[in-house]
Amino acid sequence: MSIVRVLTGITTTGTPHLGNYVGAIRPAIEASKDVSTEAYLFLADFHALIKNQAPDQVAQSSREIAATWLALGLDPEKTFFYRQSDVPEIAELSWILSCSAAKGLMNRAHAYKAAVQANEVAGEDPDFAVTMGLFSYPILMAADILIFNAHKVPVGRDQIQHVEMARDIAQRFNHHYGDIFTLPEAVTDDNVAVLQGLDGRKMSKSYGNTVALFGTPKQLQKSINKIKTNLLEPGDPKDTDDSTVFQIWCAFASDAERDLMRAAFADGIAWGEAKKQLFERVNDELAPARASYERLMAAPSEVEEILQQGADRLRPKSQALIQQVRRAVGLRAYC
Ligand code: TRP
Repeated sequence: MSIVRVLTGITTTGTPHLGNYVGAIRPAIEASKDVSTEAYLFLADFHALIKNQAPDQVAQSSREIAATWLALGLDPEKTFFYRQSDVPEIAELSWILSCSAAKGLMNRAHAYKAAVQANEVAGEDPDFAVTMGLFSYPILMAADILIFNAHKVPVGRDQIQHVEMARDIAQRFNHHYGDIFTLPEAVTDDNVAVLQGLDGRKMSKSYGNTVALFGTPKQLQKSINKIKTNLLEPGDPKDTDDSTVFQIWCAFASDAERDLMRAAFADGIAWGEAKKQLFERVNDELAPARASYERLMAAPSEVEEILQQGADRLRPKSQALIQQVRRAVGLRAYC
């Protein structure tokens, strides 16, 4: 049986929150343990530059995200864990691909279209603040995926289009230059919870309703206390269906604990008490990883070394692929 290569990237912007943990980090680390697959997980720091041009924030966020994944149990011996910018072949491939990828394909990308539309609504020039990075970002993403000939790309729904574009770009390249790239496939997991934020909408940095993953226990408690609830009094039976407290509880609890909390809701548990239990449950799960996180944040050279080793293990693969691509397109030594 041939090995399945599973690859995904994490854009290094912002500070990880509980929604990232439940929706992306935890399932990806679980999946990376599957011995029938080869897992590639990388810090998409070239992508971060599209969204953030503040150098210190770019650097800080990359460090925090690397430490977060390691603290939560990503095993760099069993997974290819690397920083995109440490693999220069990705940028090189991105250029070569951009010479055969159709501009019309990029015009259809959701992120670009949304930016243009927002400008039109605001009465601005359609290209206002649209960088070439934003416009051609699906090509960089295609290079991320194709450089290691990934078979499967686990992503959120908003990214499916980009993986399909990578497939289109690969197909077109193969058609013109010969069979070089594996055609990748997006995979989405419907069982993964989309966590609700403090206001009940999807937890997202852009809504400002997040709970930080590795704040202090006090900060965690404070955030949980801010979760919006209804005005029902202690003793009033409470509905689990529209409760953010219950939803977050379920993302951390076992089946038995979920049933217990459901019964407590029916019995009229006070909101304060439900939140206290939620805090304790989440805090218990995160405490050991929080300690590792703090240790790793204080030991940047350790993290740096892990990432350098990741890149060292991978570069032979990316170099071999780029050589093949160069030859195919006609960039060849003269003798
Ligand atoms: N664009 C992805 C996101 O914003 C991150 C990403 C970059 C990625 N390169 C990738 C995901 C390659 C999968 C494969 O979520």
